[in-house]
Amino acid sequence: MERPAMELLEVKDLSINFGGLQALAGVDFNVREGEIYAIIGPNGAGKTTIFNLISRIYRPDTGEINFEGRDLLAKSISDISRLGIARTFQNIALFKHMTVLENLLLGCHSRLRADVLSAGLFYGRAMKEELKAREQVEQIIEFLEIEHTRKKVVSSLPYGMQKRVELGRALVSEPRLLLLDEPMGGMNVEETEDMARFILDVQEEMGTTILMIEHDMGVVMDLSDRVCVLDFGKMICEGKPEEVRKDPAVIMAYLGEVSSAGGEDRSAQD
Ligand SMILES: Nc1ncnc2c1ncn2[C@@H]1O[C@H](COP(=O)(O)OP(=O)(O)O)[C@@H](O)[C@H]1O
Ligand SMILES: [Mg+2]
Repeated sequence: MERPAMELLEVKDLSINFGGLQALAGVDFNVREGEIYAIIGPNGAGKTTIFNLISRIYRPDTGEINFEGRDLLAKSISDISRLGIARTFQNIALFKHMTVLENLLLGCHSRLRADVLSAGLFYGRAMKEELKAREQVEQIIEFLEIEHTRKKVVSSLPYGMQKRVELGRALVSEPRLLLLDEPMGGMNVEETEDMARFILDVQEEMGTTILMIEHDMGVVMDLSDRVCVLDFGKMICEGKPEEVRKDPAVIMAYLGEVSSAGGEDRSAQD
């Protein structure tokens, strides 16, 4: 008998207010094991704020976030990666003056350090963990086809390649849930196509569940299993990409953005 898809992440009634600005108002959605779930919406809609809440950078005014049935709000920032959640940032967050290899190894160490310390700095164990980390990094380098960049300093790489390295940095911790904040933002057409292919490969070959924010509706249509649309902190629609694309409220939110802001950013900051 087929097992019903499990809810990996449950977000219930999530709200947060920044000094009078209601950035999120009662947002509910679930992400199922193995799917690519996209959050789309105009700039300033509250998309990144959802990631900052899941990552425990912000605390919500109301709501619940459960991951594998566990209450995430009872966990600290440092628990998040160990629980199996990794993220990328809208503005790339890598150590720009370090090499690709060094950045990827750091991605492992955010998870390893606690394990190694709890083992009482036992040398043999630490050594084994280090070797495993290096092996894991090599696998990701091969998977993302970035062998030629491994010794290069991140700041010397083209923007699209930096985004790919940041994806790698998130993947080396072997997350169960990967949060991608505008993974194609600022990319040219070719870089966007490459990134789309890697995101699908992560889902299919690694079996990772992906929650992805994307501003551009066109990009998510081919990739996502389900999409929700956020506008002014409220979820206005959820469904399969083809359903969402036709929804009048969604069309209005996007048309409204074009006509009122001329495509400009509605948010005060990113
Ligand atoms: N730390 C913060 N302090 C004050 N306002 C914030 C903060 N973070 C986000 N906001 C505001 O919340 C709204 C939603 O922002 P954000 O989640 O970044 O939007 P999106 O990612 O959809 O473009 C914006 O108006 C933004 O200026
Ligand atoms: Mg954002």
